[in-house]
Amino acid sequence: KTLDDIGDVTGKAVLVREDLNVPMADGRVTDDTRLRATVATLTELADKGAKVLVLAHFGRPKGQPSEEFSLKKLADPLAHVLGRPVSYIDWEGDKAAVAALAPGSIAVLENTRFFGGEEKNDPAVIERFASLGDFYVNDAFSAAHRAHASTEGLARVLPAFAGRAMEAELKALEKALGAPERPVAAVVGGAKVSTKLDVLKHLVSKVDHLIIGGGMANTFLAARGVDVGKSLCEHDLKATAEEILDNADKAGCTVHLPYDVVVSKEFAANPPSLRTCNVHEVAADEMILDVGPQAVEALGDVLKTCRTLVWNGPMGAFEMEPFDAATVALARTAAALSKEGSLISVAGGGDTVAALNHAGVAGDFSYISTAGGAFLEWMEGKELPGVAALG
Ligand code: 3PG
Repeated sequence: KTLDDIGDVTGKAVLVREDLNVPMADGRVTDDTRLRATVATLTELADKGAKVLVLAHFGRPKGQPSEEFSLKKLADPLAHVLGRPVSYIDWEGDKAAVAALAPGSIAVLENTRFFGGEEKNDPAVIERFASLGDFYVNDAFSAAHRAHASTEGLARVLPAFAGRAMEAELKALEKALGAPERPVAAVVGGAKVSTKLDVLKHLVSKVDHLIIGGGMANTFLAARGVDVGKSLCEHDLKATAEEILDNADKAGCTVHLPYDVVVSKEFAANPPSLRTCNVHEVAADEMILDVGPQAVEALGDVLKTCRTLVWNGPMGAFEMEPFDAATVALARTAAALSKEGSLISVAGGGDTVAALNHAGVAGDFSYISTAGGAFLEWMEGKELPGVAALG
C-alpha cells in the first residue's frame, strides 16, 4: 500500500520513518541526498493536513542519548531542503508536543536509537512510538534491512504504507532484477570479495553478464591461476571464487574479469612505477589498482548489448588518480546509454554513489539508490524486513 491508499489524514498524526543518517562534518551536512529523498512524502502528507512526525535514527548510539547523536541538529537542514518549518520533539514531553502540533506541520522526533529497545524491536518501544501516531509510513528503504521497532515493528501495529521514496526505490529495483529487460549486466566492484560473496552468488543466477572489478577481481584472477603480485587478494577465498565461476558457467552467465590492468609498486597518486599491462605480466612487486583501458572498452561494448544494468562498487582504487579511470570511463558509457534510452541503469551503495558523482554522471543513471547496506542485501536476493512488513 502506498500513500494513494492512506485516505483522509487531516488532523491525524502520521509517523514517517525516514533515513536521516546523513554524513556530517563540522556540524554541517556534507551530502543531503537522503534529506532530499524525504521531500515528496513529507510535503504530500503536510499538504493533506496531517501532523507529520519524522522518525529516524542517527549513527549508532546504542541506547545512550547524547548530543553527538541527537537529531535536533537536523531539523534546520531538513527545513531548508523542504522549504518549510520543521520543529524538533524530544523524547521527554513528546506526547504533549505532538498534541500541540498544528495540522499540516512537520516535526522531527529525537533519535529512535536513544531507546535500547529500538534495535531489539522491543514491543514496549513499538508501543511507545505507536502511541504518538494514527498511521505509519515507511519511506526509508536504506534502513529497511533492519528489523527494528521503527522500521519493522510499527508496520505490524499501525495501518502501514510505503512512502513515495520507498515506492520509487522498490519500483526501480523491481525493474532492475525482479522482472528486468534482458540482457542484464551487473557491475560488482570494491576491495574485498568477502564483503560481497552473497551478492556474487545470487547474481550469477540472475544476470547475463557479471562484470567484476576492483580489488575483488584479483581473487578471481588468482583463482584462475594468474599471479597477481602484491595486489590485494583474499587467497583463502580462491576456492569460493572458483565455485562462483563454475556456477556462473552452469547458469549461462558470462563473467568478465579484466585482461589488462593498471599496476604500480606503491599506492600513491600518479606514482613513477605506474604502467598498464596484461594480467599475466604483473610483476611480483606490483599491485593491480585499476582495470586497464582495453578491458574497459570491451566492457563498454558489453553494456551496449544490454538493456539493464545494476552497479555496485568501483572498478579500481578510484579515490586516487589515475586509478579512477576505469570507473569513470565505464560509468560514462553506462550514463550515455541510459541517457539515450537504451539502458535501464540502477546503482547503489555508499562508495558507488560517491564514485558515480566523481565521474559526474550520477544524474544520468536511471535510478540511484540512497541505500548502502540495504542495497547490498537486496542484491543478495534477501527479503528486507522493513519492506516485508509493509505487506
Ligand atoms: C545506512 O546509513 O546505511 C542506514 O541508515 C542504516 O544505518 P545502520 O547501518 O547504522 O543501521
